[in-house]
Amino acid sequence: MGYKTIQYKTEGRVGVITLNRPEALNALCDELTTELAAALAACEADDGIGCVVLTGSKKAFAAGADIKELQSRDMVGLYNKDPFAETWEAVARFRKPIIAGVSGYALGGGCEIAMMCDFIIASESAKFGQPEINLGVMPGAGGTQRLPRAIGKAKAMDMCLTGRMMDAEEAERAGLVSRVVPADDFMDVVMEAAESIAAKSLPVAMMTKETVNRSFEIGLTEGVRFERRVFMSQFALEDQKEGMAAFAEKRAAHFKHR
Ligand code: CAA
Repeated sequence: MGYKTIQYKTEGRVGVITLNRPEALNALCDELTTELAAALAACEADDGIGCVVLTGSKKAFAAGADIKELQSRDMVGLYNKDPFAETWEAVARFRKPIIAGVSGYALGGGCEIAMMCDFIIASESAKFGQPEINLGVMPGAGGTQRLPRAIGKAKAMDMCLTGRMMDAEEAERAGLVSRVVPADDFMDVVMEAAESIAAKSLPVAMMTKETVNRSFEIGLTEGVRFERRVFMSQFALEDQKEGMAAFAEKRAAHFKHR
């Protein structure tokens, strides 16, 4: 499928989706989020893909929802045809591992889409923020919910109420990003992480993601119970036999279900 606002390519078992509206700092217009959802559906259906990287340009991962498009929207139109539930949430619903590679601005919806990914690797140039309050609205794609879970109430309130930006170093300290990488090495490190995940057993990686995500939805006792059941079910997989045999035989594991 030909895309206009994103680019899609595969490198081995990694699907790389690059947001590509340079004229608008990758602002997330309807066309872009629709194409993003379609690319993710294609990745989910492709057995050859074990991990996805979602990235943008050097200057911007994404500077938020497209303000020029949002400007003329009204409450009933937004409510009746909720664009966030329809296309944006495709990132949160995506079942395979997905890494956000953030260079430059990740603001508003850009920060929210990055947070829907499993983890964020940031270039030193990354800047995160929820500046919606400066536009007379608040975050609308999960920012008020995922940000406090990621960085705690104090910093989340600070970000959402002042609309200030956080640099990569502060974002790493706060726990919003898993690693900060020098700009020159940035994509190499993101791809290396994605390739490492794509080489694992895909069902095990997907179950791991599902189980970690479950910890944000339920209490500890139920969460640990859920984990134990999933862990035990993995002993029905050939990949568990292979992984443990490979360790005992001092060789690399070759997982079948990839
Ligand atoms: N929507 C639409 N267009 C945008 C945009 C956005 N979110 N962000 C940038 N652009 C456009 C600019 O209008 C400009 O286009 P023109 O050249 O046609 O005027 C182009 O991208 C380049 O932007 P700037 O000239 O502003 O670049 P800069 O380097 O001076 O500033 C910036 C960069 C600080 C990121 C600034 O562009 C900015 O503040 N952008 C808006 C950030 C924002 O408020 N995001 C939240 C959006 S609302 C939202 O996301 C709601 C939600 O929760 C779902």
